Amino acid sequence: MLLDVQGLVKTYRRRGETFAAVDHLSFTLDAGELLVLAGESGSGKSTTGRLIAQFSTPDDGKIILDGQDITHVPERKKKELYRHIQMVFQNPMRSFHPRYTLRESILAGIRNYHLTFTEQELQDLLKEVQLPVERLDRYPHEVSGGECQRAAILRALCIKPQILLCDEATSALDVSTRGEVAAMIRNACKRHQIGCLFITHDLLLARRLADRVMVMHNGRAVETGTPNDIFTNPKEAYTKELLASLL
Ligand SMILES: Nc1ncnc2c1ncn2[C@@H]1O[C@H](COP(=O)(O)OP(=O)(O)O)[C@@H](O)[C@H]1O
Ligand SMILES: [Mg+2]
Repeated sequence: MLLDVQGLVKTYRRRGETFAAVDHLSFTLDAGELLVLAGESGSGKSTTGRLIAQFSTPDDGKIILDGQDITHVPERKKKELYRHIQMVFQNPMRSFHPRYTLRESILAGIRNYHLTFTEQELQDLLKEVQLPVERLDRYPHEVSGGECQRAAILRALCIKPQILLCDEATSALDVSTRGEVAAMIRNACKRHQIGCLFITHDLLLARRLADRVMVMHNGRAVETGTPNDIFTNPKEAYTKELLASLL
């Protein structure tokens, strides 16, 4: 087991009242596994991702990565942790410095972690993310959204993470690119044995992509199972409702 999340709680205040955006959430993720966090907007998916990526601290619960408790990592140790948990967000343009070429940004990421990287490795990864090499010498605004997202995934893969956390990483792409990029992410995680936490509100994509799906509602896991369990044999009323809304 690569990641073990136990009883995670994150509360916020809204109109003077405290509410749990993530409410006693538990799940596991194996190396090479793709777990989709699915659910409506506001169900707590991004908050869960941010807690795991250490962008915010939980009020309760535990996050265990590869046997190590990373729930409260001191600031000075966070950089090392970020290496193991790489994130890809919805808007790839915003995740790149506008005045750096994609290559400069990618190399900066590698240098930041004192990693060695051969030209051959770069060529192999370019092929894997299906990005023509000349795109690397362009600026973020000079490539398409899909190409920019491929570069963002390339940058994450260069760091050799244990976990790839994708928060609506394909949601802003047009329909024809969306499926391709999602399948590429899946293949890369399988090949490199990276555990992938794939956050999406897109249930059809979840069905095609996931090894397991966790359906979230009000910060809780309503139901977790294989796409087959969830989509052809949902047990919970909420899951059934959500699926009915697709028709
Ligand atoms: N920093 C924050 N402060 C206050 N409320 C927040 C904050 N982040 C998220 N929330 C609230 O927590 C709930 C879950 O949000 P989020 O995790 O972004 O859901 P999702 O990603 O599933 O759409 C929502 O009601 C949202 O408004
Ligand atoms: Mg979100």
